Amino acid sequence: MQTQPEIEQALDHAYRRLLALIESLDDARLRVPYHPGINPPVWEGGHTAFFLETFLLRPWLARPPIMPGLDPVWDSFDIDHEDRWRPDVVPGKAAILDYMRAVHESVLECLATRPLTPQDLYLCKYGIFHQHMHIESMIWACQTLGYAPPPFTPPPFAQPTARPETAGAAPGDVTIPAGRYRIGMPADSPDFAAAHFAFDCEKPDFLVDLPEFAISRTLVSNGAFLEFVEAEGYRNETWWSWGGRKWLSARAAADGDATRQAPAAPPDAPIYWKREEGAWRQRHFDRWLPLDPASPVLHVSYWEAEAYCNWAGRRLPTEFEWEAAALGRGPDSPAQLYPWGAGMDAGRADLDAAALHRPAVNDLAAGDSRFGCRQMLGTAWEWTASPFLPYDGFRVDMYPYMSTLQFGTHRTTKGGSWATASSLIRGSYRQAYLPERRDVFVGFRTCAR
Ligand SMILES: [Fe+2]
Repeated sequence: MQTQPEIEQALDHAYRRLLALIESLDDARLRVPYHPGINPPVWEGGHTAFFLETFLLRPWLARPPIMPGLDPVWDSFDIDHEDRWRPDVVPGKAAILDYMRAVHESVLECLATRPLTPQDLYLCKYGIFHQHMHIESMIWACQTLGYAPPPFTPPPFAQPTARPETAGAAPGDVTIPAGRYRIGMPADSPDFAAAHFAFDCEKPDFLVDLPEFAISRTLVSNGAFLEFVEAEGYRNETWWSWGGRKWLSARAAADGDATRQAPAAPPDAPIYWKREEGAWRQRHFDRWLPLDPASPVLHVSYWEAEAYCNWAGRRLPTEFEWEAAALGRGPDSPAQLYPWGAGMDAGRADLDAAALHRPAVNDLAAGDSRFGCRQMLGTAWEWTASPFLPYDGFRVDMYPYMSTLQFGTHRTTKGGSWATASSLIRGSYRQAYLPERRDVFVGFRTCAR
């Protein structure tokens, strides 16, 4: 995505996905109940258009707002979260769709006549990636609300039938040799808008010395996590840290499933699991399906991942260990952004909401890192043991709130999920989530202690 036509195509693709998500919801479904982990879909559409208008159209055209007076409504750092649900504050669906279309068409018109400077390219990419971040959050909102899956994700819904019994078994660890590894992306690069595009929290890059460590080749599977559940792992305080015990007893207000009442008891399994007539089932959007033991466990909080590790005698990787295992960049290695090499190849990973069913944890071998770690990009954001903090030399980017509001309170997750855009993700990407969140598409892998 470097040339004018590629940018236009990428903008159009993101716009059409946003439209498809909004238009797939009838009026009743658009009136979503308040939930702290999601946004009303129409507000989200207006917000993404506002981002493009603010960072592209206004500097390019020096013209007043398309929807006068509404900047504070669309700006997520002005409007209170609860107010995004207020019909007296947020315009209706038709007005928002008109606004999205007006912004989209104006951006395309500008692109058709304007030579793209590196700064323009950077801003366009930023706007496209921002749209993709909201597409993922709209998809997890559909999961939270028990709505149908995203309309652009192809059927069928059938469970895979031919998986071998052992498909979920942990295929063991790989050893990452001690060494000096490169982390992050260059802060100052003449190629900042193209090969070195990165968000502020990924910059500047640096070298870190890591001792040898062993990390699991795959994500933790449903089958492996089920053993923890059936060993009454949620009931045994031994495995839970102070923060984890607080989470268990508080029953995290933001944990996501709006389709069922919050139980009075602390959780005893992942949020979308239930046991029915002796068999475990998992809610996948609007359907309850048999739990697939071979696919990765998703929708577990940091505290659940940590407790599982304690029970299994394992630990979560630090974010530096994760990035070393995924990319293995040394002091002199070329710019490798993906486990398999320098260029994105979406066919090697579970990305772009291209499939509804997760692969088994040991599928997609073509996406292995050079150490043999599998599905490090796509499938599930992966919890790391690391708090989300700025790198030394951090400088805030054009969008000051992209990272700064999460520093210190959130955990770093890595790798992107099945619903993340392949154009957005790379090995250095850092996504911040609060540790109690399990409504989002998070899973984890483990390290030997
Ligand atoms: Fe946003």
